[in-house]
Amino acid sequence: MSAMPATDETALARAVASFEAPAAALDTIARDFLGQLTRGLVGEPSSLKVLRTFTRQPTGRERGRVLVVDWGGSKGRAGLVELAGGGAVHMVGEEVVTFSDDDKRGAADHVFDVIAAAVRRIVDAHAVDGGCPLGFVYSYPARLERIDRAVALALTKSWSLTGLDGKDVAGLLNEALERHGLGRIVVNAVANDTVAVLMLQSYRARGGDAGAGPADIGLILGTGTNQAADLGSAGIRNLESGNFDGVGAVETPYDVTVDRELAEPKPGAQRFEKMVSGHYLGEILRRVLVDLAEATPMFHWSDAPAFATPFGLDTELLSRFDADRSTALSSVAAGLRRLGVESTLEERRAVRRLARVVVRRSARLVAAALVGTLRFLDPGLAGRHGVAVDGSLWGGYPGFERQVRGALDELIGVERTKRLEITFVKDSTSAGAAVIAAVAAQQRSE
Ligand code: GLC
Repeated sequence: MSAMPATDETALARAVASFEAPAAALDTIARDFLGQLTRGLVGEPSSLKVLRTFTRQPTGRERGRVLVVDWGGSKGRAGLVELAGGGAVHMVGEEVVTFSDDDKRGAADHVFDVIAAAVRRIVDAHAVDGGCPLGFVYSYPARLERIDRAVALALTKSWSLTGLDGKDVAGLLNEALERHGLGRIVVNAVANDTVAVLMLQSYRARGGDAGAGPADIGLILGTGTNQAADLGSAGIRNLESGNFDGVGAVETPYDVTVDRELAEPKPGAQRFEKMVSGHYLGEILRRVLVDLAEATPMFHWSDAPAFATPFGLDTELLSRFDADRSTALSSVAAGLRRLGVESTLEERRAVRRLARVVVRRSARLVAAALVGTLRFLDPGLAGRHGVAVDGSLWGGYPGFERQVRGALDELIGVERTKRLEITFVKDSTSAGAAVIAAVAAQQRSE
């Protein structure tokens, strides 16, 4: 029994209801996504960029050692990967670097220097020679002009660097490698992380079973979100679906302020990502709680820096809140205490309820966007389709996949959903980069 006065319950219920994403709204969103994908592909105005990738599906027989670089978030990686055939991939060595908030707002050259220094450590440790291909996964929007030339578009995920926009990121990495005495190592392929997960899953499936179908869709659901898809004759494309703007049907006032008040990415950009991905879900919940503090006697926590500061509430906590099944909600209490607040049981119940609906809407939006792409590939959804997924939200939030599948059941029916092979491909980026670089080396030699 809740001891909450009726008015508080009404304010809370209203906030909860605002995050509902009914099947009819999702269906509208899926249709809009399909329409924008169709337009984006032929160069008509669309919030989906549908960028070329200049790669093709692997055969599964690619072999050899490949240097890899992965830059797409607070952590960057340089590594040496061995494609061993038969779908097997081994990480021979890896160097991880962490970028600070200052790095995210500084000069692009500095970031490339940090990465090049990490490549240098790998090259030295494993005596890598000059002929070794290098695959670079750059997980921000970029317009590829060749497999080894990618012009940076506006950054996402709160990054804002000087000296990057309009520049070729492969060229910038090559120059940094040269500054670190690695002029003999040359980037031979650049790709997005969505392409990496798609390619890795196809390599594994086909390497293990020559008759296996490749992955049709690569999906990332972590700090950011995005899809790549194999559009048949149009090739594998990076949709940059985080920028999809057809979200009006399920938008709340909280989403509107997240969009307007954050400087990077600029208002109007990355609308879908701002409602779906791990970078934003904690921030949405924080804004709901701050708002309810004004309307109810609950959540009077504004003195705690976590609630007073944008991005003070980390999305990781939401999975903790959701998973708490104890009567006293002790895990929610501990999480809030870590943020500097003591809570009542009622407040904890409300926080858990709100966290759940914010995440549930994210999962349902992901399903709608997937349906948009799937309908492009196969309007009747008659065939089998492979979706390869990676990312901390999909992998780390208990029940996220189940909620996506539940929404897919509602949108396309249980039978068609069953024909989707959705595979979680953990830590796909570096291994996927190796597959892409090996395919590029093969294409060059043809
Ligand atoms: C952002 C980037 C996109 C990337 C995604 C997942 O949406 O713009 O390129 O694929 O995050 O990392």
